[in-house]
Amino acid sequence: MTGHHPQTRAVHPPVIVPEGSRPLGVPLYQGHLFSFDASDELATAFEGPDEAFFYARMGNPTVRALEHALTELEGGSGTLATASGMGAVNAVLMGLLRSGDHVIAQAALYGGTHALLQDLAARWGVEVTFVSGDDPAEVRDALRDTTRILYLETVANPTTHVTDLPAFTEAVRGTGVLTVVDNTFVPLLCRPIEHGVDIVVHSTTKYLGGHGDTIGGAAVFADKAVHQRVWEHAVELGSTPDPFASWLTVRGLATMPLRVARQSASALDLARRLAAHPSVARVHYPGLEDHPQHDIARRLLPDGAGGVLAFELHGGRDAGRTFSEAVELVSLGPSLGDIATLVMHPASTSHRQLDAASLAAAGIGEGTVRLSIGLEHPGDLWADIDQALRKAA
Ligand SMILES: Cc1ncc(COP(=O)(O)O)c(C=O)c1O
Repeated sequence: MTGHHPQTRAVHPPVIVPEGSRPLGVPLYQGHLFSFDASDELATAFEGPDEAFFYARMGNPTVRALEHALTELEGGSGTLATASGMGAVNAVLMGLLRSGDHVIAQAALYGGTHALLQDLAARWGVEVTFVSGDDPAEVRDALRDTTRILYLETVANPTTHVTDLPAFTEAVRGTGVLTVVDNTFVPLLCRPIEHGVDIVVHSTTKYLGGHGDTIGGAAVFADKAVHQRVWEHAVELGSTPDPFASWLTVRGLATMPLRVARQSASALDLARRLAAHPSVARVHYPGLEDHPQHDIARRLLPDGAGGVLAFELHGGRDAGRTFSEAVELVSLGPSLGDIATLVMHPASTSHRQLDAASLAAAGIGEGTVRLSIGLEHPGDLWADIDQALRKAA
């Protein structure tokens, strides 16, 4: 740019591409435009998720670094990163379904996913059959010629129900139905593609980012052609993440295996202490021997059952609410997978519109409390939980 007016040079500062050395970490490419020497090269870039970068809604090097890392994490062939977990769920469902198609889904789903399926049914003519998630025969019975997707969650909220992924993928094997699994609760602890799953969905907002400072999502694909179809829809949907959010998620990913191992160990320790406490009627944690799917958890989650647990207080709704407000170190908040421990009383917050019967149908008691265990010392967490249990008794 020498020889140009300073005004022109201000618009075109030198772009430094390192030569002779490499950045150790993933660089943050916040810019959304890339330029080319030839129109044909630009034309090729429009074709798919693995082509050259040209406009960041279709691809960006920082976002792609996250996508490659998640492809490795889940053992897939490619990944679509999105602006939120719901962005990933939308991109997959809306990218693969058309009106008249049929979806089989487990009833205990994340509320946003459940609402989206109901919306797709009411406004877009997609048909949905809900199954319990306990018996693959229910899926075989529900299959139709128009069934396109079987939608499951590895560990469901807040009951910590564990789905037998190999048995469910076996139930649709050879039918052409794609199995989608939300693996948000147990990244790395379970790798659903190894169990025959076609698409793994994550809210990276939770354990993958892990530090409560970014919203994001991802869909990891076993098959490249399915990835291409969903990517084409996602660029129309505009569900692309901001590069900075992806950069934060990449940074979080580095410590995710250590965090999740620690959080799982603390959750098991606290689940055992809660199970022995006189104010607690029942603890839901897949790592406990009396959990209804403990045997499935031992097969699917051999290295730890994750950092989320729930428990029922004898004192019902009042006790659940009092407990969630009496904690001091633990924070009352809606998310999970954070470095800080979080508590929520579903009956008075996320599920407040449900009456006792509807709560029971969803497997939630009036005194159910959910904990997402963070990285604090378990001794300090127990001291806080114990004092809050006494206040709630
Ligand atoms: C299991 C599960 N899936 C998907 C989502 C949606 O993720 P996001 O809030 O990042 O859109 C959540 C959010 O809580 C979740 O818990």
